[in-house]
Amino acid sequence: MLAQKRILLVIGGGIAAYKALELIRLLRGAGAAVTPVMTKAAGEFVTPLSVSALAGEKVYAHLFDLTDEAEMGHIQLSRVADLIVVAPATADLIARMAQGRADDLASTLLLATDTPVLVAPAMNVRMWTHPATQRNVAQIQADGARLIGPDDGDMACGEYGPGRLAEPPAILAAITAMLAKGPLTGKHIIVTSGPTHEPIDPVRYIANRSSGAQGTAIAAALRDLGARVSFVTGPATVPPPAGVTVIPVETAAQMADAVARALPADAAIMAAAVADWRVSNASDRKMKKDGTGTAPALQFAENPDILKTVSHGPNRPRLVVGFAAETDDVIAHAQAKLARKGCDWIVANDVSPATGIMGGAENAVTILSAKGAETWPRLPKDEVARRLAHRIADALK
Ligand code: CTP
Repeated sequence: MLAQKRILLVIGGGIAAYKALELIRLLRGAGAAVTPVMTKAAGEFVTPLSVSALAGEKVYAHLFDLTDEAEMGHIQLSRVADLIVVAPATADLIARMAQGRADDLASTLLLATDTPVLVAPAMNVRMWTHPATQRNVAQIQADGARLIGPDDGDMACGEYGPGRLAEPPAILAAITAMLAKGPLTGKHIIVTSGPTHEPIDPVRYIANRSSGAQGTAIAAALRDLGARVSFVTGPATVPPPAGVTVIPVETAAQMADAVARALPADAAIMAAAVADWRVSNASDRKMKKDGTGTAPALQFAENPDILKTVSHGPNRPRLVVGFAAETDDVIAHAQAKLARKGCDWIVANDVSPATGIMGGAENAVTILSAKGAETWPRLPKDEVARRLAHRIADALK
């Protein structure tokens, strides 16, 4: 599966470093060669001896090791790999990547490389959710790194929440996906997915029933054909796919910003169920009953139309695909939407409750374009995604 591939594995210093041993075993089992690099702190958690025994190769740890520089300089070390994987990536290592530091071997390699980088964060939940870490994570993603995890769960420190290293088999799947060669290799595709949440006050919001299943399946199918996917997702109920750049957002305005920042791209697939309106008089305190029995009146403002903006923008991708979720006159509404939004295709579906499509596992779509309409049979959402991804690959040839 990974025969002839070389992975440079940077092991950071965290409790989860022991899982890097399992990852090395899986990588070698899949046929990959592994060049291990350990940070100084990683040596506090796993020994270089066990790492090199499993990798079957020397462990690199020091920047100024002259013998190593004679054998293989750090620049070359960073370039011989097909992929650099940072697992576990600590908060500190991510911060140093975000800043472009080069004060040890791991950070220098990461700065000197032009090889794709996959980062698997692992840290305490508070450290992960801290705005500083979230800023750094957004920065390294903007610089091109892809993320896997972290997972939710019990942590070694006794807390519960996001911060656990993704499981080694999931990291292996993300690595395999990133190294997959296909008709979309070298192409960057933005996918929006899920609902948006529009706050009413700090504890209440307006949302819709989108689960994010179709958008997630499309992102995974594009990834499987080799695309680099920026996955801009609202608060969906299905987890995002591995091996894509996940950009989580909450509101339509945040989604519009994230899409603008992710451009340029070869294609944009707008599968999100974006709220058309936001509450313009949202309160920054929880709204209370005033005892009179009168409900507060909400006022609404129109949200930016992301699809329309991208379709007419200066950075327009070659292919822009919109979705039309309708409950009646599906084709007529979708046809009108194709013209109104200025996109190349509309993927239309009937989401009236009787179809069970919204939140369900299947979808029945019609693809509308300048060439006409093509109706597909009712299929699992994964299969719709696979067919759509192949159609996108053909269009971007
Ligand atoms: N969309 C968007 N930004 C918005 C609203 C919608 O990018 N603010 C995108 C959706 O992701 C989808 C397409 O536009 O690809 C159609 O969304 P929909 O809400 O069905 O279209 P509307 O323009 O809101 O039309 P209508 O209200 O008539 O349904």
